[in-house]
Amino acid sequence: MTDPSPAPVPNDPASQYDGPPDYRVIGRHAVFPSTSHDEIERINYLAQMNRHLAARVVPGVKAAYEKRVEPAFKAQHGRPIGHRHEARKALLADPVFQTWSALRRATMEQRQQAGRWTALLQREELARKAAELTEGDPRLELDPTIKIPRYVSAVDHHCMPGSYHTEYFPGDVTNGANYDHAGFVTTGGLLGKFTDGGGQAVVKWVKKNLPDFMPKKILEIGGTVGHSSLPLAQAYPDAELTIVDLGTPVLRYGLARAKSLGVNNVRFVQASGEDLSRFPDHSFDWVQTTMFLHELSLPALRNILRESRRLVKDGGIVLHVEQPQYTPDMSYFEQAMRDWDAFYNAEPFWSRLHEMDLDAEMERAGFRKESVIHGAVFGVVDRELFPDAQEDDTEDYGRKAAWEVIGVMA
Ligand SMILES: C[S@@+](CC[C@H](N)C(=O)[O-])C[C@H]1O[C@@H](n2cnc3c(N)ncnc32)[C@H](O)[C@@H]1O
Repeated sequence: MTDPSPAPVPNDPASQYDGPPDYRVIGRHAVFPSTSHDEIERINYLAQMNRHLAARVVPGVKAAYEKRVEPAFKAQHGRPIGHRHEARKALLADPVFQTWSALRRATMEQRQQAGRWTALLQREELARKAAELTEGDPRLELDPTIKIPRYVSAVDHHCMPGSYHTEYFPGDVTNGANYDHAGFVTTGGLLGKFTDGGGQAVVKWVKKNLPDFMPKKILEIGGTVGHSSLPLAQAYPDAELTIVDLGTPVLRYGLARAKSLGVNNVRFVQASGEDLSRFPDHSFDWVQTTMFLHELSLPALRNILRESRRLVKDGGIVLHVEQPQYTPDMSYFEQAMRDWDAFYNAEPFWSRLHEMDLDAEMERAGFRKESVIHGAVFGVVDRELFPDAQEDDTEDYGRKAAWEVIGVMA
């Protein structure tokens, strides 16, 4: 009998492959762009490049920091590096950091161009399919008068031309389609076939920590195409989920995607989270944001926290999921590496958000100090994509796991 899983061959990289799965595993739906052989291989190459940079090159940057950068700083200043900005500036002169940083930026730009062109080339077909699924559906509430605030309109977030909100023609969904189908390059499949591992993790956390919580009205602010939000609607089928976002293409694409995936207890509303006066006080049991706060200016962050305070019912919850805050036990090296997005990946508010005292901001928004809660959520492993993975393998490419929840029980 032959062994179905031959042992890895020593010194044979091919038999020890631990890179991302092939893009062809991705979950499809009615408005998911189709991809040619060459487009798929471009995405595969970029996903593998990202994984390679994170798993193989970042350890080299760390070694260069410890062996070269830190000692040189100490020799020059007569003291150790004292905060993350000193660590970043010292790293800038090191060739290993320069190589990693340049390749990471180039990979991100290529990811955006590759994903965008695939979506642009079939823009009319995608718009037609989205229209078929959404036209006349009251669950899509667009507001043609909406003003995109400058903290959004001035930024091509993570090198994405036109960010989430730019509409190239009436009915367009290009930027939603790009965000959905080529996000695989940065997640490497770690968020699952439908990029919903983050939302599934939140649901798991809520069910474990609040087993009796049965929400009827859920609001997700900055929900984009619904990647992280749909698991909430699926987990609580008797609830109605409202997703609010600024961007027309992502909302239109989002409802078409949700319907095509069979998720119907959801509506997509175009509005700014800063002013949700269309909803009366205390109208939601659960207000959620996921990987959203880092894209806000400080006044916008404060307005949104205040709106969430107004909107949540007594006995409800407000949860924000973000990458970890910079705490004193996180090394300056790790903080500087995490800050890369702020300086080289068009995320101008990233650095400030992660150093802020969010507990104090919640209090300032009107929540009681004693009601603030913290937790860690770990991505839910997609067993189909990663049959051998451990529960805590879903890290952000070798960095400390995953996401943190900060929230309140109101
Ligand atoms: C990083 S994405 C959020 C990702 C999403 N929550 C997920 O998990 O897939 C940020 C989103 O916030 C939206 N956004 C930014 N400012 C906003 C605001 N003031 N009100 C509502 N949405 C906003 C953007 O249009 C974008 O879709």
